[in-house]
Amino acid sequence: MEKIIINGGTPLRGEVEISGAKNAALAIIPAAILSQDVCVIENLPLSISDVCIMMKILNQLGARVKIINKHTIEIDARSVNSYVISNDMTKHLRASYYFIGALLGRYGRAKVALPGGCYLGPRPIDQHIKGFEALGATVTIEENAIVNAKAENLTGSPVYLDMVSVGATVNVLLAAVKATGLTVIENAAKEPHIVDLANFLNSMGADVRGAGTDVIKVRGVENLHGCTYSIIPDQIEAGTFMVAAAATKGNVLIKNVIPKHLESISTKLVECGAEVEEFDDAVRVSLGERAGKCNIKTMPHPGFPTDMQPQMAVLLALADGTSIISESIWSNRFRYVEQLNRMGASIKVDGQLAVVQGVEQLMGAPVKADDLRAGAAMIIAGLAASGTTEIEDIHHIDRGYEDVVAKFSSLGATIKRELRPDPNELNGAS
Ligand code: EPZ
Repeated sequence: MEKIIINGGTPLRGEVEISGAKNAALAIIPAAILSQDVCVIENLPLSISDVCIMMKILNQLGARVKIINKHTIEIDARSVNSYVISNDMTKHLRASYYFIGALLGRYGRAKVALPGGCYLGPRPIDQHIKGFEALGATVTIEENAIVNAKAENLTGSPVYLDMVSVGATVNVLLAAVKATGLTVIENAAKEPHIVDLANFLNSMGADVRGAGTDVIKVRGVENLHGCTYSIIPDQIEAGTFMVAAAATKGNVLIKNVIPKHLESISTKLVECGAEVEEFDDAVRVSLGERAGKCNIKTMPHPGFPTDMQPQMAVLLALADGTSIISESIWSNRFRYVEQLNRMGASIKVDGQLAVVQGVEQLMGAPVKADDLRAGAAMIIAGLAASGTTEIEDIHHIDRGYEDVVAKFSSLGATIKRELRPDPNELNGAS
């Protein structure tokens, strides 16, 4: 089994370049099938597994995908000849359900297997379906959890989302851009990747206004042409390196970022006593002494991102004082706490709240990555801890972080990937 091995205790120093945003890429790649032409997408994190699966799905649908270089692909969707996506693809990646909106928008048909359960808690799609039905589609869930959506004609309509949902906002946008007439999405998500998707769609000739606010207006157009588009830097990857710099009492320049997207993270790091210096497309984070405590409540953008909650918990686990973390988006996003407490942290979870009593030092230990961002938190904990930390189940981390070991190594971390026999394999356990 492949593991990440870290010898902790070295402050991170130097510069690191952030890759393109995973959650923008996962929305923009399906959007490309709405085009009658060829789309070139730049600054893609092509080596993360979620993006690789998205490209496999494009191929399964018949699109021609050409890899231009390490971060650029060309998508020719004119050869798309299917609206069916099977479970063998969708079981690996929840965001595959964005193809429902894109296929509806292009063909008026979509048959997509629903992805499985999720580590964060229930992942319903009732708001996605509410949006599709408002536009005139009929949506049924068939056996084997196949979502079957069809619409003779998609007609623009008001869509009020009962709760802020990134996925539902994306899916309704994809279905609405070629619908006849005006669609108004109320209570829309405002994440940077929503704005990036809207900008991509408008580059193809769509008419999407208001992205980044809670009311998005879409006027349907007949056709969408091709475009060349560069996606935004990854807000969460950037935040992960910012917190790692502070947790190791280092000094790191994080390049290729949009500081505006990082405001809630910067604010919390400053509250903990870190120094955050902003430049046009970079931020520098430094912390010379022990962090102070602070309270975190995760909220939709521009609030503190839930995808940064596990990483921030590591800094607070080492802070001077007791901090409270309130997770308001997901029902099960504290699974990493058990792993952190194995390293000497003192965190108690009660429902959606975690009480973090700061300790002076974490100690290296064998831990596992329970999910993508929990895995990122384990890396930060291993870097800050004394001694050696071995992280298993690192495939979760590879879903969302490009060249993660190389990037941390370049900052002076003693970190490597290693194939280690699984103790269960050694004693023949199944
Ligand atoms: C997106 O997930 C992100 N994934 C998640 O990032 C992120 O945690 C989440 O948004 C919140 O920011 C991608 O962008 C691929 P939601 P999504 O719909 O769209 C409830 C990562 O680490 N809800 O905004 O699935 C839902 O249960 C991943 O990169 C409904 O009830 O999240 C949740 O409680 C993890 N019905 C809340 O809304 C619906 O129809 C927000 O979910 C849809 C959502």
